[in-house]
Amino acid sequence: MIEVRHTSGLGLAELAAARALLFAVFDDMTDADWEHALGGLHALAWDGPDLVGHASVVQRRLLHGGRALRAGYVEAVGVRPGRQRQGYGAAMMAELERVIGAAYDLGALGATDEGAAFYRSRGWQPWRGPSSALTPDGIRPTPDDDGAIFVLPGAVPLNLDAPLTCDWRDGDVW
Ligand SMILES: CC(C)(COP(=O)(O)OP(=O)(O)OC[C@H]1O[C@@H](n2cnc3c(N)ncnc32)[C@H](O)[C@@H]1OP(=O)(O)O)[C@@H](O)C(=O)NCCC(=O)NCCS
Repeated sequence: MIEVRHTSGLGLAELAAARALLFAVFDDMTDADWEHALGGLHALAWDGPDLVGHASVVQRRLLHGGRALRAGYVEAVGVRPGRQRQGYGAAMMAELERVIGAAYDLGALGATDEGAAFYRSRGWQPWRGPSSALTPDGIRPTPDDDGAIFVLPGAVPLNLDAPLTCDWRDGDVW
């Protein structure tokens, strides 16, 4: 069963379960990564009382082609080890993609190598142009993230070979 709830609608126990799940899925998970997943809509995958998957979408601004696009930015997508490749990830993403299509100019995310194949299979497209971040010191290139940023185009035309700049935040910017 997939539940879609805003952060404000989750209890402390559910938030703790989601955080623990993500720390179990990702070796390099940080508190900043968890913070990035808050303040939007969460898709929670349940097997009875057990939380087996989490994904969320939060709003960010992406600068592209002279506009500040309203992006539904997907964060903290993880399915519990031992429960992967059973359809939970696809079911969570289908819910978030519906939200993105209805509420945002585009979807965007930063993918792991494993995640990249998963998102490609769902129609997400790799950004080919140079990435950067709008830091407190101005726009700074983020070459380490080039090739790992995926978008789900919506109504706004995108040039995937042009620059794409994300807004600022603590931790990993993409
Ligand atoms: C990536 C992840 C979220 C996918 O969730 P999942 O529940 O395992 O995936 P699903 O069962 O819904 O897969 C649906 C389809 O996506 C594709 N897919 C999923 N994982 C894939 C992978 N590792 N490699 C290639 N294709 C993949 C396949 O087409 C798959 O269909 P199939 O199993 O019939 O071949 C999950 O495997 C995971 O948590 N991995 C570790 C954490 C991670 O890398 N998260 C992504 C962060 S960006």
